[in-house]
Amino acid sequence: MNEVLAHLHDVSIGYDTPLIEGINVEISEGDVIAILGPSGIGKTTLLRTISGLIRPLSGEIELAIPSRGGLGYIPQRLGLVGNLSVRANVSMGARVRTSRWWPAVFPLPKEFEEDISKAMRHLGIEDIADQPVRILSGGQQRRVATARTVAQKPKLVLADEFLGELDDDNVEVVMRTVHATIRAQNSALIMVEHHEKLAKEVANRIWRIKDGKLIEEVVS
Ligand SMILES: Nc1ncnc2c1ncn2[C@@H]1O[C@H](COP(=O)(O)OP(=O)(O)OP(=O)(O)O)[C@@H](O)[C@H]1O
Ligand SMILES: [Mg+2]
Repeated sequence: MNEVLAHLHDVSIGYDTPLIEGINVEISEGDVIAILGPSGIGKTTLLRTISGLIRPLSGEIELAIPSRGGLGYIPQRLGLVGNLSVRANVSMGARVRTSRWWPAVFPLPKEFEEDISKAMRHLGIEDIADQPVRILSGGQQRRVATARTVAQKPKLVLADEFLGELDDDNVEVVMRTVHATIRAQNSALIMVEHHEKLAKEVANRIWRIKDGKLIEEVVS
């Protein structure tokens, strides 16, 4: 039985004026949801609202996930620390589950170190583990941000165009790793994706944002 992880009740989102109104959706364990819609329509704002970074204009969001590390967010602009190494950035994901998340050099228990190594191995960034993130390519940085979230083992992953700048092989690697993480934890993924074809390949639910509404599409 898959549990409900998040419930949005008649939620409106936006800043001064609403961008999307009347959102009523549930997100359950095992869901892989792709959000589609044109630039500037409010997709990032929706992820930020679900994550709690900004408040909805009205309505209510219920989250049933662990408060420490239960929610993983891969932002559109990644939010990596450029001067720190790949390993230190990935370790921050695991650190979210502890009370020792800062500084990033503080030693972690063995189990967490294994999660960090595994995440880096799966995303093919082990050989650049000691390099500072700022010198990496866009696609490499995206894999670092994904590894950071994988090492966190969240119940709900919010990913904003995290497949951008990746070549076909790496899209495959990243999606395979994220799917495996979701299965292992029985978590859910909500991803914003510009490429409709790709979204339909990987998601089992599609949310299309159109004319200020969220429309759930039937996936064929
Ligand atoms: N902090 C903010 N304050 C006020 N308005 C904002 C803020 N952030 C974004 N907006 C506006 O909200 C609208 C939606 O932005 P959002 O980033 O959610 O779009 P998006 O669908 O993610 O677009 P893209 O596909 O280009 O990433 C835009 O018009 C944007 O200018
Ligand atoms: Mg966006």
